[in-house]
Amino acid sequence: MKHAALLGTGSYLPGKILSNNDLEKIVDTSDEWITSRTGISTRRIAGKGEENFHLASRAAEKALTMAGLAAGDIDLILVATLTPHMMMPSCACFVQAEIGADNAFAYDLNAACSGFLYGLDLADSYIARQPDMKILLIGSETLSAHINWQDRNTCILFGDGAGAVVLSGSDSRGVLSSKLFSDGRLWNLLYMDSPESLNPDIRQENWQGCYMQMSGRDVFKFAVRSMEDAVSKLLTKENLTIDDITLVIPHQANVRILNKLMERLAIPPDKVYVNVGQYGNTSAASIPIALDEVNRQESLQEGDKVLFCSFGGGFTWGALLMQW
Ligand code: UT7
Repeated sequence: MKHAALLGTGSYLPGKILSNNDLEKIVDTSDEWITSRTGISTRRIAGKGEENFHLASRAAEKALTMAGLAAGDIDLILVATLTPHMMMPSCACFVQAEIGADNAFAYDLNAACSGFLYGLDLADSYIARQPDMKILLIGSETLSAHINWQDRNTCILFGDGAGAVVLSGSDSRGVLSSKLFSDGRLWNLLYMDSPESLNPDIRQENWQGCYMQMSGRDVFKFAVRSMEDAVSKLLTKENLTIDDITLVIPHQANVRILNKLMERLAIPPDKVYVNVGQYGNTSAASIPIALDEVNRQESLQEGDKVLFCSFGGGFTWGALLMQW
């Protein structure tokens, strides 16, 4: 059976950089507090002409160039996002029009920060059925549009950006295995309301605007536990140990979460890719941006095993193994 393998990767980060010092002028915080609690120094913020589908399209074009394909060669566009600039049509349909992928069908999927991993798993299922399919999978977010800039608990954490991959079937490379999970009972630890409902009868009682709301400490603890559990279950399922893994590319939320994860799973730090310091948490975009950076460094060899893990609102979490 063929598996979804990378033909190309791309990423796009908006030009505007928001530093911790800039944030000190907006809310009661400090560079020292943010750096020591999160490891984040800067994040990118979308500006004029940089709506979600623009970021997604620029990343997609780079991935297509690397793959040596034209937009018209793509059969399916999947965009993992929780911040589409419209409720309808989907961000994926806007991307289709923007890049001219006239032969593709297109839709979004929302699994919060785990969206890209869920998307890889989904793409792999399509490819199992139709190995020649060319799939453009994008993780793209404009979280800056959904942040309460007076809330120091959240506004320091998030950033905007997009990462994309082009996938098609391969016998020797690609997605090998995955373990995905959700628990909707924990929704209220991390959520973002919809725009205020026009129907007052179904409007949320305590609606406070469509901003990110978060119980930071609970999310932190859950993130470490859930990713540890998903990675352990996946390794057990595949009869592998951490020694068999060349590189771990985790969801980039907080350096302290990643340090705890490495400690609990005894992963040497040089096996974990970390760029959260530069971009903050870009939700569904964080893994594909990191993956594009890794790919362009050309440090991985054929046959290497790359492990991805993520957690996010829902809760959603999981781990996925890819052969390079
Ligand atoms: O993709 C998933 C997205 N979410 C996450 O990954 C979030 C996971 N959680 C975290 O990363 C951490 O919980 C935070 C970085 C959000 C917070 O760190 P913490 O060590 O859990 O701090 P805390 O919330 O317990 O707050 C400690 C203190 C509080 O003051 P008091 O009550 O002790 O006086 C907060 O009010 O720090 C205060 N505080 C701040 N101080 C300066 C909270 N935010 C800030 C801030 N600057 N930005």
